[in-house]
Amino acid sequence: MKVLIIGGTGLISTGIVKHLLARKADVTMFNRGQRSTDIPAGVHVLHGDRNEAGAFKRECGSQQWDVVIDMICFTPEQANADIQIFSGKCRHFIFCSTVCTYGIKIPSHIFIGETFSQEPISGYGKNKLLCERIFLQAHHEKQLTATIIRPSSTYGPGGTLIDNLEFNPVAWDRIERGLPVLCAGDGLGLWVATHRDDVGKLFAYAALNPRTFGQSYNATTDMHMTWEQYYQTVAGVLGKPADLRYLPARQIWARDPGRFGLLREITAFHGAYDSSKARRDVPEFTCEIPFSAGAAELLDDIRRRKTWKTSANDPIYDQLVAATAGTQP
Ligand SMILES: NC(=O)c1ccc[n+]([C@@H]2O[C@H](COP(=O)([O-])OP(=O)(O)OC[C@H]3O[C@@H](n4cnc5c(N)ncnc54)[C@H](OP(=O)(O)O)[C@@H]3O)[C@@H](O)[C@H]2O)c1
Repeated sequence: MKVLIIGGTGLISTGIVKHLLARKADVTMFNRGQRSTDIPAGVHVLHGDRNEAGAFKRECGSQQWDVVIDMICFTPEQANADIQIFSGKCRHFIFCSTVCTYGIKIPSHIFIGETFSQEPISGYGKNKLLCERIFLQAHHEKQLTATIIRPSSTYGPGGTLIDNLEFNPVAWDRIERGLPVLCAGDGLGLWVATHRDDVGKLFAYAALNPRTFGQSYNATTDMHMTWEQYYQTVAGVLGKPADLRYLPARQIWARDPGRFGLLREITAFHGAYDSSKARRDVPEFTCEIPFSAGAAELLDDIRRRKTWKTSANDPIYDQLVAATAGTQP
């Protein structure tokens, strides 16, 4: 199986490459070569920017591929360029989308399945949805055999461990220092965090699996938790208690909309997804890494990379914590 992965050295794509190699695939990655990541033995590397149309087409469109996996397609322009380049050039095309395409409503059965209406609120989610439609139309018009995969919050070495408020939070340092940490609402919002080595299996084993052709899949573990449990799990890894304080989400993001954009667009809402369709069609997609083990691994990795975020000198956070005084359960 000859596979081109656009990206390849990123957070999720590292997990995908690992499982493609376990499948004995012949893997080529296309990226700019800006990361100091170890390229696994045997992987071919093409360097270039996918936004430089001529170079992208020259590097990737001059060969036949069994499978093309695009990890970094975010706009309709990029999706259309893919169709032009890879139509007739690959047997199977997998687009990495996002659960942000669903928006913020909660279905009556709570967990969001693939047929739930897609009404994204962020520019990111809206553009991913436009890309999904372009690829599915190309599939129906037999230009590409396409599969859509929608990861939710995915974490692993090389990245950050988000909290309810921020992509790169100060909360873990505050817990280490015995300081209170903030969570929106009552901490009872639902969340799911999936390790990239588990998400990677879905991409790697969906590849050339005919049941996935023309289909869309959520890509999450079924180990859902509340945000309160999420913080408590990370605090357990740190060996300290989590002193949680609660504020309405809008009060937090209004204090600094740029900093708390994650909360405004994503984590203020339930993030609970049903990935049983993926498990049915791709039985190799087993999610085996518990959040406690994955969080411990990632926090160690963050310390090793010396990217631990300090909570010192953070008056905005301190003011928000002060605002919770007298309001806590
Ligand atoms: N992480 C999550 O929680 C999450 C959740 C939902 C969906 N997703 C989706 O997952 C995908 C991210 O996958 P990932 O983990 O591989 O991403 P990533 O960690 O951002 O890595 C991006 C990869 O693409 C390469 N790249 C970036 N810009 C490029 C360009 N202009 N031309 C060529 N190569 C480029 C990077 O290498 P160079 O920098 O060397 O070029 C790297 O290999 C996105 O589509 C995102 O929407 C992620």
